Amino acid sequence: MKKIFITIAVISCMCISACASSEYTTPKDSKHIDENPHAYATEILNRDFDVIKRVLQILEKVSNCLDNSEPISRETFGEIIEIINEFSERRHQEKEAIALFPLLKAECGGEKKDFLGRLLMEHVSARDQMRDFADAINNIYQGKKAKKQITKIAYGYIKWMKKHMQTEEKILFPWVNKILTEDKQGILIEKFEAMEKEDIDNGRYEKYMTMIERLENQLGLCSE
Ligand SMILES: [Fe+2]
Repeated sequence: MKKIFITIAVISCMCISACASSEYTTPKDSKHIDENPHAYATEILNRDFDVIKRVLQILEKVSNCLDNSEPISRETFGEIIEIINEFSERRHQEKEAIALFPLLKAECGGEKKDFLGRLLMEHVSARDQMRDFADAINNIYQGKKAKKQITKIAYGYIKWMKKHMQTEEKILFPWVNKILTEDKQGILIEKFEAMEKEDIDNGRYEKYMTMIERLENQLGLCSE
């Protein structure tokens, strides 16, 4: 009986999805940009969030599988960490820390200084959590306690990132769109696109999007 249950659980976790594989798109094909030809720079940040939310869904699914004693390899978690490092730590955090926040400071002086400082600290915390997660993954084959530690960090990170994104979507982005003029929005969009261009040209963006789509298909998740 137990054997049958495990077999069914493994199939449900690792089945090939019936979802049609979504076609690879570049950041410029984003639905946010399509819907609004006079896009705000924050639409580019929203688009990065769309990808991060998909990765968090993958992380949640594999963590559930691990919690149910289903076979998830260290390599799978390793790939997820690599994707998070790429989309959350590199793409999202760099856009804000290098381009957006300095522009806001130049435009608004000390206004919302503490709030921006808090968001930067949340970025640091997210990186720390990922480092702890990578350490925990190394012990994945060392028994139940080690697996519990992995899923504990994973669920904590998912909750943390969702809260961070929600704060930015509800407070930061509306404020940015209110205070930045069309010219400043244009400058910011150019900066964001310049930061993305190299990754698109050298295939790095496509590589990670393909990894996400493969994991979604393996886990039976749909991106739409
Ligand atoms: Fe952020």
